[in-house]
Amino acid sequence: MLHGWRGGEERDVHQEMMRLTLQIVGKTLFDADVERDAQEVGKSLELLLEIGANFRRTIFVPHWLPTPANLRVKREVTQIDKVLYRIIGERRASGGDAGDLFSMLLSAQDQDGSRMTDRQLRDEAITLFLAGHETTASALSWTWWLLAQHPAVEAKLHAELDAVLGDRAPSLDDLPKLAYAGHVITESLRLYPAAWGMARLAVEDHEIAGYPVTKGMGVAMAQWVVHRDPRWYDAPQEFRPQRWEDDLLKRLPRFAYFPFGGGPRQCIGNTFALMEAALILATIARKFRLRLVANHAVVPLASITLRPRRGVHVTLVPRQKKEAAAFVKRQANCPC
Ligand code: HEM
Repeated sequence: MLHGWRGGEERDVHQEMMRLTLQIVGKTLFDADVERDAQEVGKSLELLLEIGANFRRTIFVPHWLPTPANLRVKREVTQIDKVLYRIIGERRASGGDAGDLFSMLLSAQDQDGSRMTDRQLRDEAITLFLAGHETTASALSWTWWLLAQHPAVEAKLHAELDAVLGDRAPSLDDLPKLAYAGHVITESLRLYPAAWGMARLAVEDHEIAGYPVTKGMGVAMAQWVVHRDPRWYDAPQEFRPQRWEDDLLKRLPRFAYFPFGGGPRQCIGNTFALMEAALILATIARKFRLRLVANHAVVPLASITLRPRRGVHVTLVPRQKKEAAAFVKRQANCPC
């Protein structure tokens, strides 16, 4: 991606992050040799997400009615099925291990020795594709938007990258040393959680904080609200990655911070997403500062994920290394 970026250019960084995380999930799921297939599936999924984002308008329309939206859904699902069932057929026939997640799913065995059916494999692939791409892309888009508005945080991040990486690109081994980069992602997921709310059905009667919850009742929990609660966070509306130093996460009550949910259905991509986001952040921030384009309002849209409604338009500014250290020195007392 960076090979195509030029200083002075204007880009929608949300689109860029969507394309990038799609490529990454495509590579880990299907391996690179089916990159075109991954792109096709991704394109159809994006269209379905778009329709899903408007679901308030269509929720009462039965799926069998041939409305334009229903017909589009059917077309895209057929397209996805065509690609996925072909890959499943090919992989079953070859019997080889391509070193990707799909191969792992194909060889997975239940306790009784049974393996997944084609339909199960197809469902797992779609879930991972969907859950594993827009969430991480949105988290990164909000991070770029926040960094562009907080030059002291940005400079502190740059100073860390310069000190740890020098002139090389980051790798997995560098992550433990890129603590501030991790705090930037953690803080961005606090203020703009890609999963802004989730729900559970009560399996038995219960009481929560004096409120009766009866069996079958739906209970909604909103990360957006809890993550901004002054009971848990000082200056909760402010972007302060430094708050995560000294193990704040361990000191907080459970579920005061839950961008990846919790319990048995907690996000299985949690570690993968944090690793991916920190590496992307470091790789790009090492080379560029992203400046917000004037007159382009960035507005949150609480769709399936919390994403920027019309993207995040930025100008790419190649980075001067010396600037960061000097800036950080001047901002020694910043609570960022
Ligand atoms: C910043 C990025 C991400 C965020 C904020 C996020 C958030 C979440 C949340 C909150 C849930 C739980 C939903 C619930 O309990 O109702 C969830 C579930 C899930 N996530 Fe993620 N996710 C992210 C990235 C990923 C990635 C990269 C993958 C896969 C590679 C992934 C795969 C899944 C799957 C498969 C589930 C369903 C787990 C289950 O039901 O057992 N997620 N995610």
